[in-house]
Amino acid sequence: VRLLATALLCISAASAADPVPTPYASIRAILQQLAPPELKSADAQAFAKWSRAKDQAIRARLEQGDLDSMVNLLLFGTAFTTQPRMTINNLGAETRAGLLRARLDDLLKALNNPGTNERLVFLRALLTSKGHPPSAASTGQFILDNLQRVLKEKVAINERIDAAKDSSNVFSERGVSLDTTILPNYGVDTALRDLKERKLLPSVTRAAIVGPGLDFIDKESGFDYYPQQTLQPFALFDSLKRLDLGTPRITILDISPRVLDHIKSARSRTSYTIQLPRNSTAQWTPAALDYWRNFGNAAAQEVEAMPTPANLPNVATRAVRFPVPTLDATDLNIVDQQLALETTEKFDLVIATNILVYYGPFEQALALANISAMLKSGGFLLTNDRLPEVPSLPIRLLNLTNVVYSEQPTVGDSIYWYRRD
Ligand SMILES: C[S@@+](CC[C@H](N)C(=O)[O-])C[C@H]1O[C@@H](n2cnc3c(N)ncnc32)[C@H](O)[C@@H]1O
Repeated sequence: VRLLATALLCISAASAADPVPTPYASIRAILQQLAPPELKSADAQAFAKWSRAKDQAIRARLEQGDLDSMVNLLLFGTAFTTQPRMTINNLGAETRAGLLRARLDDLLKALNNPGTNERLVFLRALLTSKGHPPSAASTGQFILDNLQRVLKEKVAINERIDAAKDSSNVFSERGVSLDTTILPNYGVDTALRDLKERKLLPSVTRAAIVGPGLDFIDKESGFDYYPQQTLQPFALFDSLKRLDLGTPRITILDISPRVLDHIKSARSRTSYTIQLPRNSTAQWTPAALDYWRNFGNAAAQEVEAMPTPANLPNVATRAVRFPVPTLDATDLNIVDQQLALETTEKFDLVIATNILVYYGPFEQALALANISAMLKSGGFLLTNDRLPEVPSLPIRLLNLTNVVYSEQPTVGDSIYWYRRD
């Protein structure tokens, strides 16, 4: 009887929504098509072993992403210093003029006394865990070494993009960052509008966001004066409501404990306020501006925005307060895992922007296998990465929506629509 009770307990503990490893049968053909030579003929056991090691390697990249965010804070943050922000194109001259040194000194001082500034508290713990507490003589050099690494990587990435004439694979060894902005949500909003117009997506009762991110420091504009926030779950809720496509339960899938903890703490609140600062000198298109002006107007309420710091000029801002939608948050690595969902629990829509770019074609194909397994028949994946064609999977690229965010320089996205057969 005890044995039976234990077995029953185990069964009920593994609820339908627990992450499970990618089933071997679903990716066998992907191994043949895209795996590195040593894995092409892997059996289920060898693939499972590779997959576990991959999961660890991917999660380890989060720390490097955090160190990249530290570099962005050093160059562009405004909350810990009264010095002006640095500019990527004038970095050499500004460094010779002493700006980098002054900002580094201010950052170290602030890290020694972080108060309640959550970005500084986090970086202080990160640096200390790496053996470089802010009070140590070596820490300034450690931060500068990371700056140098990030700059070298930037050059290497640009060279690889120029050489390859496309960006696939170029981010596959970089740190995984959490950074996020409002703009990809404008892209997704536009794609949803297109899907609705073509009557391809009648309604959304269950949606998932893979990797919603956390707004630590905006590297274009240097915004770090308000509490960290996540945008994508609220943006999606707002878009779907505005388009009359439903008010779904939204499942967050992410590997970052910081993102998952943030979502879990948001879930326990009755409302969630989002600050929407915008660099008013950036030449956003009229349609992108319109999206910014109307962000939240379907699902949230306009509230007073936090004042912007004096050393952050040219900022237009607003703020909106959302009711908290029904949110689940699950630790899941989309390259290696999927949720075991009953047919009725599967998603009508999965959003994955600025995440699959971190992976090469083989890992992207595995992620596509996992996403397709969680989608309802006829459901859509919207992503701003063009993924490899995988004939063995029951999901196809149907079309795309091109969006332009700003003119001069032209910045935009293609949002690809993948539909589950
Ligand atoms: C750069 S942020 C993108 C944020 C947001 N989607 C956007 O477009 O602004 C990448 C996000 O993906 C998550 N992520 C990266 N690799 C992942 C993986 N293999 N599985 C699940 N989440 C992942 C990161 O933790 C982070 O939340």
